[in-house]
Amino acid sequence: MGHTAARSRVVVGITGATGALYGVRLLQRLKATGCETHLVASPAGVLNVHHELGLDRNALEALADTAYNPADVGAAIASGSFASTAMVVAPCSMKTLAAIAHGLSDNLLSRAADVTLKERRRLVLMVRETPFNLAHLRNMTAVTEMGGVIFPPLPAFYHRPATIDDLVNDTVERVLSLLGVADAQPKSWAGL
Ligand SMILES: Cc1cc2nc3c(=O)[nH]c(=O)nc-3n(C[C@H](O)[C@H](O)[C@H](O)COP(=O)(O)O)c2cc1C
Repeated sequence: MGHTAARSRVVVGITGATGALYGVRLLQRLKATGCETHLVASPAGVLNVHHELGLDRNALEALADTAYNPADVGAAIASGSFASTAMVVAPCSMKTLAAIAHGLSDNLLSRAADVTLKERRRLVLMVRETPFNLAHLRNMTAVTEMGGVIFPPLPAFYHRPATIDDLVNDTVERVLSLLGVADAQPKSWAGL
């Protein structure tokens, strides 16, 4: 990591895969832990946030410290000189996964991810599709080879979740931990 911000600065991408709640809950938790959040949501991401959670673009953007237009490739987060700590895409569609895997940088979201990889900062992609085709699998391999972390939001049941919130929160705390957030609260397994 070349640059280190005094306060953690996390770029959050939201795309049009199902699971908008992961992105929203991450924004809420990052704020609660004192991280500075920089949001870029694709048009399909905004569509799904509205469809799944009833939040419009304004309500979504109000959860972040700064929100960017995905077409604004001249924004601060498009440059490695912007001292972000890490980036997460939650949820991450197969289209955006493909763009990141191939270094397309065709919008601000995929450009910010490209920058995160080139600066050797932590990039977590909460990829969501099922089943996977070979292109999806190859693209996940490519991102892994570049140092990114593929983190599909697959719930664990050994902590006996009782609600959807329990499932989502468990996953989100593990992602926060991967992003280097000091106050992350992933549940640890104490053994049977
Ligand atoms: C309700 C809904 C659910 C979707 N779920 C997924 C999904 O789980 N995974 C995925 O890769 N694409 C999914 N898509 C398709 C993407 O939204 C679409 O490929 C879009 O072009 C992605 O663009 P983006 O990556 O710029 O957000 C879904 C679309 C809709 C409308």
